[in-house]
Amino acid sequence: MLRSPLLNVMIKAARKAARTLKRDFGEVEHLQVSLKGPANFVTAADRRAEQILLEELTLARPGYSFLGEEGGRREGPDKTHTWIVDPLDGTTNFLHGIPHFAISIALEREDTIVAGLVYNPANDDLFTAERGKGAFLNDQRLRVAARKRLADSVVACGLPHRGRGDLALARRELAAVQEVVVGLRRFGAAALDLAWIAAGRFDVFWERDLKPWDIAAGLILVREAGGYCTDLKGDEAPHVTGDVIAGNEDVHRELMRLLKDAANPA
Ligand code: IPD
Ligand code: CA
Ligand code: CA
Repeated sequence: MLRSPLLNVMIKAARKAARTLKRDFGEVEHLQVSLKGPANFVTAADRRAEQILLEELTLARPGYSFLGEEGGRREGPDKTHTWIVDPLDGTTNFLHGIPHFAISIALEREDTIVAGLVYNPANDDLFTAERGKGAFLNDQRLRVAARKRLADSVVACGLPHRGRGDLALARRELAAVQEVVVGLRRFGAAALDLAWIAAGRFDVFWERDLKPWDIAAGLILVREAGGYCTDLKGDEAPHVTGDVIAGNEDVHRELMRLLKDAANPA
């Protein structure tokens, strides 16, 4: 498959960082059995992966700015372009030896996300998208699922856990959604949740309180696969506000309404 030079840069960087993540994931599987567990080891693993991504992307596009989960913002001379990177999305999965995690890379030009990549090194699923050019899983073109009603949908979500977010609100939202849908999933890697929306595996996804690097790449995957990706109010920049809903036009609208009612009970 013929890809643009930009996507090739992103893929090369992701594959290089993936090599260290895969090695470290193998190690984590061993560390599971030790009492201390692999927590510190994993912190080092995502720093290592981010460093590789920073080096590779900067080598290929000197001057672009870089926003990474681990190192924060590094301003380059070119302020119009920013890489937005999560070197390891799904840390808890990784830490527990669950092979559902990803590298997420997006490129923002001015205020628009123009390219995105989400790569799961554990199964080699490579999701890519570029503005106006469609979304792909490896070589296969993607399209969001077509189900028109929540009543027929498998819904993915993110749930706050100890010490994070509004647990009471999350329970109200869950209860409202549970009553309507066919299936509910919480897989633990927001970038992959969005990529799976693009691939039509999940019908609709929502989560609150995310960071730009969790959403930016997945957002363009969903849109290029014909879906909607907004925040919970319908705003077009969920990677800025941190709350996200993604799916086709119909289920996106229906879930947005349902969550609004759950958040503001009569
Ligand atoms: C997390 C994952 C998870 C989401 C969390 C994120 P991390 O990212 O995307 O699915 O529920 O809110 O922080 O910490 O694994 O990079
Ligand atoms: Ca993340
Ligand atoms: Ca992360």
